Amino acid sequence: MGPAELGQALQGLRPFHDPRLLVGYEGFSDASVYELDGGQLLVQTLDFFTPVVDDPRHFGRIAAANSLSDVYAMGATPLTALNIAAFPKNLGMDILNQIFRGGMEKAAEAGIAIAGGHTVDDPEPKYGLAVTGLVARDRLVRNCNARPGDVILLTKPLGIGALTTALKRGDLAEADLAEAIALMEQLNAGASRLLYPHGCRAATDVTGFGFLGHLWEMCQASGVRAVVEAAAVPVLAEALPLTREWRMPGGSIANMEYLQDKIELTGAPDPAVLAALHDAQTSGGLIIAAPPERAGALLAELTAEYPWSRAVGHFESGAGILVRS
Ligand code: CO
Ligand code: CO
Repeated sequence: MGPAELGQALQGLRPFHDPRLLVGYEGFSDASVYELDGGQLLVQTLDFFTPVVDDPRHFGRIAAANSLSDVYAMGATPLTALNIAAFPKNLGMDILNQIFRGGMEKAAEAGIAIAGGHTVDDPEPKYGLAVTGLVARDRLVRNCNARPGDVILLTKPLGIGALTTALKRGDLAEADLAEAIALMEQLNAGASRLLYPHGCRAATDVTGFGFLGHLWEMCQASGVRAVVEAAAVPVLAEALPLTREWRMPGGSIANMEYLQDKIELTGAPDPAVLAALHDAQTSGGLIIAAPPERAGALLAELTAEYPWSRAVGHFESGAGILVRS
């Protein structure tokens, strides 16, 4: 669901106040954070969605990587996960088995077991994980800690929403999406582990609100302004002809409308790239606020595992986002 609708749905709701719940849903956080005894923090998140690819095993892997991502975005290490699934019985249990298999493979790669879960009969398949993670208090990474001067790093390219939508509409075949599928399946674990050693206190992951939507949340939460160099942002080449014509998911178009009055433009950014900056991503990369003196070293290390990693701008004092060509 888009940020505007979600805001309406949560309007006026006042959760029970628990002083140990350090991060609840009132901010724009990736996951909730609960303080345990001894300086450890429990991080919890839940994500599930309809298939973005036809192959059930790939879908399972992508959905699991996507769910784990919110734990990684906060610098935490996952401990356990639970399946959440909706599935029409008439599709056959072998397909659901493949989805679960894919999810289990990703969980194993993350070093965790899937401890159980819940499945309901539903006309439209959906799958994801509820993930529990742990992080030491001084290692918690939040989207509200970006500081003026920090360099903005992005670890995966954009355009995945446009490509998966083209697949759904039959304009592309699954074979054309091999690179996008590999990117969606890639865990953000390695990038997450580099945050603390490089002194990064702020990050978030790019999912449904798109690069600019999640960056805007980061700016709002941190009280800073972002300057984005459009030409530096990595976009999958096959996605550009699609984004140029706004052939993107409904969510991406909603992101464009929502951000319209929040984004300033200077120069003449490539319209295809500009649209891609709003494209809703599934299991996208991390947006990292890197201290300027560490950004180069961090980027070099990131590139080994995430070759699309780029420095795409910086934060400064102020509010909002400037995109320049
Ligand atoms: Co997130
Ligand atoms: Co999420």
